Amino acid sequence: MAFWTAVLCALLASVLGGRPTEPPLDKGHIPWLGYALDFRKNSAEFLKKMQRRHGDIFTVLIGGYYFTFLMDPLSFRAIVKAPRAKLDFEAFAVELVTRVFGYHPCKNNHKIIQVSSTKHLMGDGLVVMTQAMMENLQTLMFHNRDSREERPWQQDGLFHYSYNIVFRAGYLALFGNEPGMGTPSEEKAKERDLIQSEELFDEFQKYDRLFPRLAYAVLPPRDKMEAERLKRLFWKVLSVKNSREKDNISGWINDQEQFLAELGVPEYMRDRFMFLLLWAAQGNTGPSSFWLLLYLMKHPEAMQAVREEVDKVLAEAHQEVKPGSPVVNITRDMLMKTPVLDSAVEETLRLTAAPILIRAVVEDLNLKMANGREYALRKGDRVALFPYITVQMDPEVHPEPHTFKYNRFLNQDGTKKDFYKNGKKLKYFNMPWGAGTSICPGRFFAVNEIKLFVQGTLPGKPYLEQFLSLEWTPPLTGLAIFISF
Ligand code: HEM
Repeated sequence: MAFWTAVLCALLASVLGGRPTEPPLDKGHIPWLGYALDFRKNSAEFLKKMQRRHGDIFTVLIGGYYFTFLMDPLSFRAIVKAPRAKLDFEAFAVELVTRVFGYHPCKNNHKIIQVSSTKHLMGDGLVVMTQAMMENLQTLMFHNRDSREERPWQQDGLFHYSYNIVFRAGYLALFGNEPGMGTPSEEKAKERDLIQSEELFDEFQKYDRLFPRLAYAVLPPRDKMEAERLKRLFWKVLSVKNSREKDNISGWINDQEQFLAELGVPEYMRDRFMFLLLWAAQGNTGPSSFWLLLYLMKHPEAMQAVREEVDKVLAEAHQEVKPGSPVVNITRDMLMKTPVLDSAVEETLRLTAAPILIRAVVEDLNLKMANGREYALRKGDRVALFPYITVQMDPEVHPEPHTFKYNRFLNQDGTKKDFYKNGKKLKYFNMPWGAGTSICPGRFFAVNEIKLFVQGTLPGKPYLEQFLSLEWTPPLTGLAIFISF
């Protein structure tokens, strides 16, 4: 009897173990749509529910596509590092980019973004970009500061204030200034920059509000017309023709435009690409700056630690923030000496940035999980990661995950901390920038923008502290959709 049991077990093992099974499939009750409505309503809650029902890997039907969600961060590597011949991030984004920006990506688009970003938004390229951001921030924050006229106090919401300043300074740093800088008519040029960037920000906010429904293709006709108007406006304002009139256009914008021209992409299409770049660069940095400022104001001990660090870096550069002294000049090198502020930025993004990473399955493949189990994925399906709930908010990885702890990412001695799950060290413990080949190429510049804004806003602005009495809980911000192609 024992002999036959052993033979049967061996047979079963060879049948089950030899061929990986597919992840549990849940199609919901509505044909084709599947779980599209639940997913749209509250992605985080929906996925948590599915995880409770099916475990760390499952496939759900959403709007005609089968999405396999992988919920175990120890297994993310299998997706993030998979070769593009097996899991592709571009195939999925083309349709979306066309609908949302009117842009039809060309074959080498991703390469062009990568090459220009490595040159201008990372390493030494950041020296120039940080300086440009700094100067434009100063124009926006301190313009007319020395005018003798008594200027009335203005009241603004903290979110609007932060988004407005960071959007406009980032836009001017990337897309250039009105001509006339460094000439006797510089003041006039600055005035025009202020007015034009303010107008553009107003329109951008309108587009931002329509964006999620536009991405899901569920805009009612009137909003669709408005989205169309806005698209055309951005294509025109950011057009190649208009940009030829500007001074100080960043190498990042210039190079990408030229690469596309050399590939024979027509000018009207290059105008549209500029809109895509504006959205990618400016859609998240302003809101993130707001969150950091708010968290710092709600946590005086964090505020003090950041202030002390900023003061120390300034003192080392022989600069000081005090009434009547020259405006401080912060460089890329100075921004590299702020581990406490870096940790506060990372903590802010952990709490508020919630991208979904999506890849198309190009050919049938087996996915090996960290626990050794293998699952078969079908060609044509999609694989997705939602790190916000699977790692950023996991109490095992980040104890008290809803609490802002400015030094969460630092050891006592100021070095960077490691994070663990099931006793195993995690490579992916915070993923606001995505990961792998599609990781945000602007992340180093974005962090510098946020840091420059916050250090410029903190000192000598006690009126902002009125917001300390606000009652709030951190919701998921509108960061859930990101584009790559
Ligand atoms: C807090 C600010 C920012 C956040 C949270 C953020 C996050 C992201 C994420 C999650 C992606 C998609 C990754 C993926 O699909 O796997 C992305 C893509 C991208 N980001 Fe950022 N980003 C920020 C700021 C910026 C800035 C300042 C720039 C440029 C100056 C930028 C340029 C881009 C571009 C061009 C892409 C598309 C890359 C490609 O398709 O190859 N981002 N970003």
